Amino acid sequence: MIIAIDGPAASGKGTIARRLAKHYGFSHLDTGLLYRAVAKAVLDAGDKLDDRARVIEAALAVDPTQFDEAQLKTHAVGEAASIVAAIPDVRAALFNFQQEFAAAERGAVLDGRDIGTVICPHADVKIFVTASPEERARRRTIELRALGQDAREADVLADILRRDERDRSRAVAPLHPAADAHVLDTTKLDIEGAVAAAIAQVERVRTR
Ligand code: DC
Repeated sequence: MIIAIDGPAASGKGTIARRLAKHYGFSHLDTGLLYRAVAKAVLDAGDKLDDRARVIEAALAVDPTQFDEAQLKTHAVGEAASIVAAIPDVRAALFNFQQEFAAAERGAVLDGRDIGTVICPHADVKIFVTASPEERARRRTIELRALGQDAREADVLADILRRDERDRSRAVAPLHPAADAHVLDTTKLDIEGAVAAAIAQVERVRTR
């Protein structure tokens, strides 16, 4: 079984995907890490994000076995990831790895922006996780402060709106729900409620 979880930044999709994978004993891939790794490799080398040839080279060299999640999950790397993710050849370079991951025998949960639309259009379950920008900013601010970062909610909201706009308006694989996705709005749900709603959706499909 393939479960595709898509949604905008800080919607809760990562937590839901992780919890679903644990619940069903499936493998989990946070596809945002791939784009983050590309961006970080370029920044670490002192190269520019608008140097397309260099960014594509970094995408072709990405090695998911070497990911350091803590270093990839920073705010700055997320912003940079959203920029490199708009380059079609970067997406093409990361395509096969994601599709092969999805074919895992035990079942797989992938979360990102284009899983249900591009990477796994035939996924058994597609959930598009969303929440109001204000609620997402509130959650992300709490997370950043817990990590010891100095975050102002108004700045975080502005960043989220900018990133949403970039991810939704790019020409290739833009963020939008697949026609057959179940939309899960987590604005008024806590994490347990959101996970329970996602499991209920998987069960609806499994018992069909
Ligand atoms: O989910 P995240 O915040 O880790 O993703 C970082 C950026 O990577 C996001 O702003 C857009 C890009 N991304 C993408 O374009 N497609 C994906 N499947 C996952 C992430």
